[in-house]
Amino acid sequence: MQLIDGKAVAAAIKEEIAAEVKSIMASGGKQPHLAAVLVGHDGGSETYVKNKVLACEQCGFKSTLIRFEDDITEEELLNCVKQLNEDIDVDGFIVQLPLPKHINEQRIIEAIDYRKDVDGFHPINVGRMSIGLPCFISATPLGIITLLQRYNIQTSGKRCVVLGRSNIVGKPMAQLMLQKEYGDSTVTVCHSRTKNIEEICREADIIIAAIGIPGFVKENMVKEGAVVIDVGTTRVPDATRKSGFRLSGDVDFENVSAKCSFITPVPGGVGPMTICSLMKNTLIAGKKEYYK
Ligand code: GUN
Repeated sequence: MQLIDGKAVAAAIKEEIAAEVKSIMASGGKQPHLAAVLVGHDGGSETYVKNKVLACEQCGFKSTLIRFEDDITEEELLNCVKQLNEDIDVDGFIVQLPLPKHINEQRIIEAIDYRKDVDGFHPINVGRMSIGLPCFISATPLGIITLLQRYNIQTSGKRCVVLGRSNIVGKPMAQLMLQKEYGDSTVTVCHSRTKNIEEICREADIIIAAIGIPGFVKENMVKEGAVVIDVGTTRVPDATRKSGFRLSGDVDFENVSAKCSFITPVPGGVGPMTICSLMKNTLIAGKKEYYK
């Protein structure tokens, strides 16, 4: 069994990005600039955004954090999006999800200029991704593809099972694993209503678990030699930690890992790669590589 070290891969990629930013700026180019909009005080979102700002520093990007209280109106937030769309210094921006219930998330996502949508959530980017055109790809699926590539894991013609059908992870992940230039795999997507889920998982060469249920993938669901990628990051109470919680993956790591050829830990697997992919997308946005 080989542990996939997402933290180390992400650190290496951020160094590559920082070197490229240095060379862009040395030849008079523009410093990439990522803006992040954070609404309210959700603990998870606070941490994610803090880590995104930190990653910008590591990559040599400019970053701007815009904060609102959770009583902001949808109109006010749309107005902020409009200003960021028009700000020529901002190359890309994200609105951290989830948003408060009174705000229509989809309306906010669709208001973002797709050329600055470094999260890859806008329908134009989602649509272009699904037919293999250059576009911003959602950071978590892109991070997983990068991990598979960096560890030379063969995916072409393999059976891949994606657990979960969210717009942010499950659906784009399945699309990428299907496409010839990325996974080139045979893909099955399972979700909460899937029958015989254990049987389907047992057939998989690669399992990508993004179902949000701690320890869902058990030993009896994994074939000997399978590759297991764990996207789960559920906060579970843990009195022994200063924070009062720990992150729990979707895989019963203790009992599953011995059967795997490769497995990602939680934390330190997929998580660091997500932020690193956002940095990659921001670099591309800064260079206007996909969209003028
Ligand atoms: N919430 C959870 N993951 C993400 C992400 O990748 N981007 C944004 N904007 N919000 C999220």
